[in-house]
Amino acid sequence: MAELVQLGRLWNLINWTTLKYLDLVHPRLKQEERYRRFMKVRTFFNPELAIGQHESSAPIKVGRLQFEYLRKQGLKPQNNLLDYGCGALRLGRYVIPFLEPGLYYGLDISESIVAYSQRLVAKSDLAPSTPSLCHIKGSGIPFDKRFDYIIAQSVFTHTDPDTTLVIMRAAAEHMHDSSQFLATFWIRNEFGESRGVDYYYPAERIMDMAEKSGLRPEIKDDYEHPSQKMVIFSRQGPAR
Ligand SMILES: C[S@@+](CC[C@H](N)C(=O)[O-])C[C@H]1O[C@@H](n2cnc3c(N)ncnc32)[C@H](O)[C@@H]1O
Repeated sequence: MAELVQLGRLWNLINWTTLKYLDLVHPRLKQEERYRRFMKVRTFFNPELAIGQHESSAPIKVGRLQFEYLRKQGLKPQNNLLDYGCGALRLGRYVIPFLEPGLYYGLDISESIVAYSQRLVAKSDLAPSTPSLCHIKGSGIPFDKRFDYIIAQSVFTHTDPDTTLVIMRAAAEHMHDSSQFLATFWIRNEFGESRGVDYYYPAERIMDMAEKSGLRPEIKDDYEHPSQKMVIFSRQGPAR
């Protein structure tokens, strides 16, 4: 079945029908709950496609792109990393074996994609690296530690401004003075939203949300994603 739903039209129909159902039956869900339900259906049909593209067959391998970019920003095997919205471990496949055991942390709003990723780890050679994977209910960080690196690839492209701000603040609380928080956005001149699952932010709005979260943003031009811009946030002041 997974192969069948890769056929573009069928996949589009699954997405369209799911969102239509949510609009009609659950019109007032918060972003986290709406996206969680959206992911549940997508993961049922095709977990690898549920997070965007298949890492194995996509022309641009977004997992590898993230990994190489993190390396460029100085990621070392001794650093700990939080993969916020880790999905089906597109990045995890590269970074988990690179990091020393126990230093990869992944979380996601979708329990179905986390369950899929846990099974993926258990049956692969990623298991000895003991990654921590967890499902979150709201938008927070349940790990009681500060991270050297936090990455949120293709997460703020799906979160509304309230949720984005909550995540930025949570990230700031889990950073130290030299941490880097890498997050991608669809940057447009005007704020935009599509079907309650896709969000487009102007650069000024990102600056404003960063300011409110105690973060200093730098919009980068060297991330080779076809549609998303990378923003690297650092802490504005000393960690409390
Ligand atoms: C497009 S996928 C990208 C996944 C992964 N970062 C990657 O590059 O493959 C977006 C992921 O963000 C998760 N997500 C969406 N809203 C979230 C939220 N509010 N908190 C945490 N994760 C969220 C989704 O469940 C999904 O797994």
